[in-house]
Amino acid sequence: MDVIDLLKQDHQKVLDELSAIEKSGDSREMGRMSEQLINDLTRHAAMEEELVYPVLIERDGELEPKVMDALEQHHLAKVLLAEMDELGASHARFLPKVRLLRELLQTHIQMEESLLLPKLAETMPDADRDRLGERLRAMEEKAMIRRERARPKRAAPKRARPTAGRKQALRPQAAKTARGRKTTRRKGR
Ligand SMILES: [Fe+2]
Ligand SMILES: [Fe+2]
Repeated sequence: MDVIDLLKQDHQKVLDELSAIEKSGDSREMGRMSEQLINDLTRHAAMEEELVYPVLIERDGELEPKVMDALEQHHLAKVLLAEMDELGASHARFLPKVRLLRELLQTHIQMEESLLLPKLAETMPDADRDRLGERLRAMEEKAMIRRERARPKRAAPKRARPTAGRKQALRPQAAKTARGRKTTRRKGR
């Protein structure tokens, strides 16, 4: 599957999940849906940071400032997700964070779909985009297997607590990624 179609599908999915949480009105259901959102969004951000953004900069160096903006938006989204997870859906500050996250993601997705993904389409042949799509799919499947293995063996938790693996995933990676790249580049000079 073309990597661009795959990423766009993900975008629609997380926006739908956010609006379902906002409309729900039932904190138990909101908690369950936000668990799904956290998984989907952290996985999507990791795929872009590891496999898509580096390719974009490699193919068009002028995109670097925009990619750095995108990394900061991912960072803020992860901060909001971690806070939502910590507070729980019944907290009065949970929904305002969901609304802020939706606004942030709408801006972010608009930038990706109007600038970054078209650039990927322009600079990467169809076959390479399909191959990259397959790599993203494989990454997605691995993450699902890891989550299944980490899931506690108990029925219907009162309020689902984050697993150690997910806590790890929520830790903002953007700054680290950017620093790592800069260091590598300095070495090459
Ligand atoms: Fe993104
Ligand atoms: Fe995205």
